[in-house]
Amino acid sequence: MSTPINFAVIGCGMLARAQHIPNIARSPKTVLHTCCDLSDEALAECRDKHGALHITKDFRAAVNDPEVQAICIATHQTLRLPIIRAAAEVHKPVYCEKPLGNSLEDIYEIGRVVKASGIPFCVGHNRRSSPAMIEGHDIFRSHMKNPKPCPWRFDRGGAERPRLEGDGVPGISVRINDDWYSWKVLFMQDKAIMEQGPMLWEMTHFTDMCNWFIDNEPVEVAAIEHGYFHSGVVIRYKAGEIATIFMCANGTFGYPKELYEAFGNGAAVVVDHMAEVRTAGIEGVPARITYPFLHDRHPNVGKEMGISGWLAKKRAACEEAAAKGDTLLSFTAEPDKGHAHAINRFVDQIRGEGPVVCGVEESIQATRVAFAAIKAARAHRTVKMEEV
Ligand SMILES: NC(=O)c1ccc[n+]([C@@H]2O[C@H](COP(=O)([O-])OP(=O)(O)OC[C@H]3O[C@@H](n4cnc5c(N)ncnc54)[C@H](O)[C@@H]3O)[C@@H](O)[C@H]2O)c1
Repeated sequence: MSTPINFAVIGCGMLARAQHIPNIARSPKTVLHTCCDLSDEALAECRDKHGALHITKDFRAAVNDPEVQAICIATHQTLRLPIIRAAAEVHKPVYCEKPLGNSLEDIYEIGRVVKASGIPFCVGHNRRSSPAMIEGHDIFRSHMKNPKPCPWRFDRGGAERPRLEGDGVPGISVRINDDWYSWKVLFMQDKAIMEQGPMLWEMTHFTDMCNWFIDNEPVEVAAIEHGYFHSGVVIRYKAGEIATIFMCANGTFGYPKELYEAFGNGAAVVVDHMAEVRTAGIEGVPARITYPFLHDRHPNVGKEMGISGWLAKKRAACEEAAAKGDTLLSFTAEPDKGHAHAINRFVDQIRGEGPVVCGVEESIQATRVAFAAIKAARAHRTVKMEEV
């Protein structure tokens, strides 16, 4: 086992204290060396609860500390570039939360800085490291490259069937059920963050998943939105592949949040809430695969796991929350969205022992698609990718 890597986490707010800080502290591959935030309360929690060896309010001091070997940025999307620049100057690897930046200028400049310095870089599109997503993606991409058609496909035309352009080309539908009551009030008070809204801060996860599953160049984007609450986005790719993203923020945490349904070459691969993968039309692949949950307070409920298991666990948790008047009790059995794996896999990347997890190029592409969608919704027209 190699010596663990000393991480400095910059921005120790809700996400960092729920994910990166405990994950880095727990992993044998990493050490929680330094925590940096402007809040005394956050820093005290990092030191006393999570065991940070050092705390500071000065991100430059954290980056330049010779003992610090890698940086994790979890500040707001409005503060990325100065930290990345500082890390690039001392050639330290950076894991940066999504969205990569708050403007197109920002993300292009980040791309230039990262490429010029050659530092290992990873963006927190953590779904690329979720076990369910990885397996769903592997099954889907290998069927797209090397189809294993099923013997029962209803082929009415047989040899007479005309050869039509687009036969077999993939498409993906992404459905997001969110509840805006859960959003951070601080975000909603920040004009710079709200200017782009959830179509940037949340949707980059989903544009990234569409790009990853489709594996081709996005060409144009159409979108309609209603305030912060509804958006419908359609992305066309180079070979005619289509992705649709429907995000609704007036939904409920009592139902699974994310549904990805990918189709192509006479097959379906569905990733439901990162709790189960369902497949159809591919020979030799299981019809249903389930994945372990995180923080499952209800191991004896919904033992069948997957979506039906999750729904049973969630119902039990919501009933407890209502009975005890504590809404936090409604959380149980979280799907593994890949946060901890992403940091561990990034360490493998830094050491040259693993692939690039989510590099700057693919992150810029995901963010550009989100910006194209925002522009399309505001201008009420389709936007070509070269416009962004
Ligand atoms: N990948 C995911 O699943 C996921 C989930 C939630 C949030 N996020 C992203 O993580 C980021 C943080 O979100 P959050 O909900 O934790 O926000 P937050 O407001 O809770 O945390 C941000 C922290 O940054 C600190 N900060 C601000 N300026 C700083 C500076 N100059 N130096 C050091 N620290 C500074 C703030 O004090 C705050 O504690 C956002 O970009 C958000 O989009 C990602």
